[in-house]
Amino acid sequence: MKGLKHALCFVYVGIAMVSAASVELNVTKQDEMIWKARAENAKQHAMAAFDPHPHDVTNQLNSHVHKATEKDHNSTRRGLHGIKRTGPCRATNPIDQCWRCDPNWMKNRMRLADCALGFGRNTTGGKGGKIYVVTDPSDTDMINPKPGTLRHAVIQAEPLWIIFKHGMIIRLNEELIMTSNKTIDGRGAQVHICSGAGLTIQFVQNVIVHNLHIHDIKAANGGMIRSSVDHYGLRSRSDGDGISIFGSSHVWIDHISMFNCQDGLIDVVEASTAVTISNCHFTRHNEALLFGATDSYTEDKIMQITLTFNHFGKGLVQRMPRCRFGFVHVVNNDYTHYLMYAVGGSSNPTILSQGNRYVAPKDPNAKEVTKRDYADESEWKHWIWKSQEDLMENGAFFVESGDPKHVFPTGKDMIVPKPGTLVSKLTRFAGAIACKENKPC
Ligand SMILES: *[C@@H]1O[C@H](CO)[C@@H](O)[C@H](O)[C@H]1NC(C)=O
Ligand SMILES: *[C@@H]1O[C@H](CO)[C@@H](O)[C@H](O)[C@H]1NC(C)=O
Ligand SMILES: *[C@@H]1O[C@H](CO)[C@@H](O)[C@H](O)[C@H]1NC(C)=O
Ligand SMILES: *[C@@H]1O[C@H](CO)[C@@H](O)[C@H](O)[C@H]1NC(C)=O
Repeated sequence: MKGLKHALCFVYVGIAMVSAASVELNVTKQDEMIWKARAENAKQHAMAAFDPHPHDVTNQLNSHVHKATEKDHNSTRRGLHGIKRTGPCRATNPIDQCWRCDPNWMKNRMRLADCALGFGRNTTGGKGGKIYVVTDPSDTDMINPKPGTLRHAVIQAEPLWIIFKHGMIIRLNEELIMTSNKTIDGRGAQVHICSGAGLTIQFVQNVIVHNLHIHDIKAANGGMIRSSVDHYGLRSRSDGDGISIFGSSHVWIDHISMFNCQDGLIDVVEASTAVTISNCHFTRHNEALLFGATDSYTEDKIMQITLTFNHFGKGLVQRMPRCRFGFVHVVNNDYTHYLMYAVGGSSNPTILSQGNRYVAPKDPNAKEVTKRDYADESEWKHWIWKSQEDLMENGAFFVESGDPKHVFPTGKDMIVPKPGTLVSKLTRFAGAIACKENKPC
């Protein structure tokens, strides 16, 4: 229900609100056609991004983790011996090791675009485009956003690598509607997007969102909002999600600190795929991550999402994530806090949980990591949910299902994932990090 809302409601709301004015009605119709065309285009990209042999992707990630932890042991030792004058590189996982050790990260910002792993690994964002420097935190004009604002940056047609001149607090008046081929890169500035609307990544491809604080996101009323340089239209109320990924593919969310949004922290819905969510620090929220919004929307079978090196921390309750239909690889995340359950869903999603740490709450009735909705055991016993090398603490337990002999196909460089015992180290720098010029970050 929630999923379809963005796509369709603006039409009805539009008709009700603009009433008799035929010209405006015509605008609404054209608007409908534009979004339909975008949806169709996005679907074709998603089909192309869908990997019919996903296990090769998980193998790739596992082999990287293996190498990274080995390297890390050795580099830590080097650090203790004081060999590196700039201080030891603090990167503890393979995504971070791809860029954080470079003291010139600020000059080589686009290097980050080569660092994604998992299903979102081909995401390059605004790589190859210009750098756009956001200088103005305001967000006042939804139709003609001021140059220098984040909204002006994200609607541009060409690829852009969007950075921030200095730390700033951005209160979005309405949802920030992003276009394809963009990176929002908050490194070097403390950027908070908070106390207003959230990010909408709808019917687009190739978006990186990196190193931001996103919190206290609220529902917004909707209205006329620009979605590209050549289009604006009437949008219905936005739900108050931190980041809403809707019918989009090749999206990488990395090093985001998120808490306390009115709806979800991150939604991945409407047949989005090729998504990686990594190195994020999630806290203080009830329903955290929703992957698939409705049990009737079977097109979500296309969803392939990697959740890795995230820290699920204080004040979280449930949905880390809650999945439908798709394939979710949950690998090397640290679940230090959940009050009800961590990983769950309905409609036969496939979940491979590897090398995570799950710390159960005190409540004796909430020790189970998993939760199945709207299905009897006779049905869910066929869903493939597997736990491998997860570290269970404080009585946590994961209820597996699916053929006990089910073996995930192995690729050429399949290496057993790092065990849950290493996860606090792998996720030590989750969330937004303070990067300084001319120093490894
Ligand atoms: C409505 O839109 C169509 C298609 O773009 C256009 O040809 C027509 O002139 C418009 N009508 C009015 C009344 O604006
Ligand atoms: C790290 O050190 C160990 C033991 O000295 C060695 O076997 C391993 O190959 C080293 N790994 C890397 C990536 O250099
Ligand atoms: C990534 O790109 C490679 C090379 O173009 C392609 O073979 C692969 O299917 C893509 N995978 C994903 C998950 O996007
Ligand atoms: C994004 O970039 C790719 C690769 O350069 C290009 O093929 C595609 O058309 C771009 N997408 C949009 C919507 O501009």
